[in-house]
Amino acid sequence: MKKVRKAVIPVAGLGTRFLPATKAVPKEMLTVVDRPVVQYAVDEALEAGIEHIVFVTGRNKHVIEDYFDIHPELYDTLTRSGKTAPLASLHAMQLPAGAVSFTRQQEPLGLGHAVWCARDIIGDEPFALLLPDMISFGERGCLAGLIELYQRVGGNVIAVEQCDPTETDKYGIVGKGKEVGRGFAITEMVEKPSPSEAPSNFYITGRYVLQPEVFALLGTQERGAGGEIQLTDAMRRLAQRQEFHARPYEGRTFDCGSKEGFIQANVAFALARDDVRELVFEPIAEMIAAQQRRSAAA
Ligand code: UTP
Repeated sequence: MKKVRKAVIPVAGLGTRFLPATKAVPKEMLTVVDRPVVQYAVDEALEAGIEHIVFVTGRNKHVIEDYFDIHPELYDTLTRSGKTAPLASLHAMQLPAGAVSFTRQQEPLGLGHAVWCARDIIGDEPFALLLPDMISFGERGCLAGLIELYQRVGGNVIAVEQCDPTETDKYGIVGKGKEVGRGFAITEMVEKPSPSEAPSNFYITGRYVLQPEVFALLGTQERGAGGEIQLTDAMRRLAQRQEFHARPYEGRTFDCGSKEGFIQANVAFALARDDVRELVFEPIAEMIAAQQRRSAAA
């Protein structure tokens, strides 16, 4: 079984759910506490043993490339002024030279098209795919568990979580087959089914291990829902000849591409951080109590 060495992180989307901020700032660079959203995906990939990261970028996203570069003037200034802690944090996030590639998606034609743009850099090996606006919050990141299941079953593995059964029409839903370790075989994949037609309430959360055969399918694919080249359509076709398994994530995932997910992620990560919790816990608790009093009085 081939090792999963490379990860694709697509960052070329327009982020229309987060306008007007995303008119000038890529949504992947919005910060959760003090780190851009994309940094969480990179850390999760490294934690899972990924050796090379491929970003699929687009217009107005050059700041993401700058972010992963070395910044000599800044490092010199921090060194001269003895600011060792921020300097150490910058060194810690530095990706090794040659361990990161950037390719362009010239037009945002959909997630499937963005993934296809990475085909030559990935080559003929399985790869991880992380949607960076979905950030995982738990004892460990989501991708590590996915790779563990991949090492047991091979093929393709997708991360899932359970949604409210009345809300299946918001998500890509998978059907649940035979249980394998901490995961299960996927029997079908359905895009946004109504609650009465959904095969389960397990929804696809934005972490995948995929086989390279998906590229050929994406390359020949017609545009699907929303006029975009859909990854789910290609996975459904691939599932006719290769196995797909699902691995429920034991933590939770925040959709930082939505306002509510982004704000919840900020609160969750702030309260989980030893250096920030004390600073924000009481003010947040007071704001919630004041809002509850206003709601009760209304
Ligand atoms: P989303 O569908 O959440 O991103 O794609 P979006 O299209 O930017 O968001 P909205 O709905 O308009 O607010 C998930 C990931 O795939 C990337 C996005 O950058 C995001 O990280 N993506 C999406 C691309 O790289 N290219 C695309 O054509 C679409």
